[in-house]
Amino acid sequence: MIQIKNLSHHFELGKKGRKTILPVLKDINMEVRRGEIVSVVGKSGSGKSTLLNLISGFIRPTEGEIWMEGQIVSDLSEAKFADFRLKHIGFIFQSFQLIPSMTAYQNIELPLILKGEEEKKRKEIVVRMMENVGLRDFQDHYPSELSGGQQQRVSIARALVLEPTLILADEPTGSLDSETESEILEIIQKLNQELGITFLIITHDEEVAQIGDRTISIRDGRIMEGANAV
Ligand SMILES: Nc1ncnc2c1ncn2[C@@H]1O[C@H](COP(=O)(O)OP(=O)(O)O)[C@@H](O)[C@H]1O
Ligand SMILES: [Mg+2]
Repeated sequence: MIQIKNLSHHFELGKKGRKTILPVLKDINMEVRRGEIVSVVGKSGSGKSTLLNLISGFIRPTEGEIWMEGQIVSDLSEAKFADFRLKHIGFIFQSFQLIPSMTAYQNIELPLILKGEEEKKRKEIVVRMMENVGLRDFQDHYPSELSGGQQQRVSIARALVLEPTLILADEPTGSLDSETESEILEIIQKLNQELGITFLIITHDEEVAQIGDRTISIRDGRIMEGANAV
């Protein structure tokens, strides 16, 4: 599903003539197989979000390759990567990223409207996805009228409507209390088992990482050898 080969990334800081280089990821090699839940765990600042941004195609690596669905994606143009993302990848964020002026239903429906899906089909998919995450009773609520856990369910349902094969989640329970955290992790496991969706979950929390079939530990931009059961 994802193969990462000799991936390194640095940021350039400062103005022209006085640039400093900040190395963030160093020679990352890892694989995520279809149908797995893989956790990447590491302290704040270890480079986890940068890794996810590279896999998502929001930034391009300084060195190395990222393969997905049998092709190199790390050198795709922005437009081609945007297409690839729409077809294959769903996203879940720590901060939910819902549109406040839209109801739960409308938030979930939005990607289908952007795709040009007709209304009857949209409704059928939205209702099915709301059921998947246990949200049917809250469809007309605005984000401000939902708990954190309910908002995260809306964002998971929204991530599902275009039927991605892969969901990338950056600290998906980082804003939730521990009880709600377990509910969201259970939903992730259910979606993995019932729909076969592959998950890559980034977290600083060793306990959350336990949800993974495998955990990859990252420290100071490097994968810790030996810590990763394959
Ligand atoms: N766009 C950027 N420009 C410069 N430095 C960045 C940028 N994004 C992240 N960094 C730096 O890269 C390092 C790793 O950040 P990040 O990937 O967000 O870590 P994590 O998600 O593990 O907390 C940090 O030192 C951070 O300040
Ligand atoms: Mg981060």
